Amino acid sequence: MRIPVLTIDGPSGAGKGTVSRLAAKKLGWHYLDSGSIYRSLAIALQNASVDLANENEIIIVAQAMVLEFECNDELVARLNGENITSQLGLESTGNLASQIAVLPDVRRVLLQKQQDFKRPPGLVADGRDMGTVVFPDAENKVFLTASAAKRAERRYKQLIEKGIDANLVDIRNEIEERDRRDMERKAAPLVIACDALYIDSSDMAIEAVVEKVLNLIR
Ligand code: C5P
Repeated sequence: MRIPVLTIDGPSGAGKGTVSRLAAKKLGWHYLDSGSIYRSLAIALQNASVDLANENEIIIVAQAMVLEFECNDELVARLNGENITSQLGLESTGNLASQIAVLPDVRRVLLQKQQDFKRPPGLVADGRDMGTVVFPDAENKVFLTASAAKRAERRYKQLIEKGIDANLVDIRNEIEERDRRDMERKAAPLVIACDALYIDSSDMAIEAVVEKVLNLIR
């Protein structure tokens, strides 16, 4: 039986997580937050004090890590049995994740871990290379983006709401640096799959984006 896959790729802060989670809930499908796999590896490397220049060591840690994700209202992540949910969302974790995501061998090791999420009745997969590399045969692909200014503003609001001190200019600079790294890397760069529906969410409400994505499947 063919298992349907909906891929949602795009830069950080475009709303992929929220849109993917809502779409998965409406469809009753599984959800893969592929960024959290790169983030989990970043945490594993930090915990093991691995030097980022030591690629062999990074690969050994990537191969050995056991990840469990529970996705109810909130995502709960465990790395080798330890709850790492609170560390997962930190800006520092995202920045470290994007530095190790440039390594082709790291991407190779994490590929199967991501493909294992494809189970009946279907999967919504969110990331940078879901439609181009991890699930190239997916029948439904979306590229979701928004202007850097809008993405920075959204991220700033999220952090302030959580009571975390934040600076809008720093956030925008970090977002632009992460975009550059994700788009310019040689291994699986962030590109728009030729068969993807392009959505710019800068001036759209989240519900309207979800509706547009679900229409693609209907
Ligand atoms: O999406 P999120 O911000 O959680 O991803 C963290 C980092 O992991 C990204 O900046 C990107 O470098 C990397 N990533 C990736 N491929 C994916 C998902 C995330 O390279 N499919």
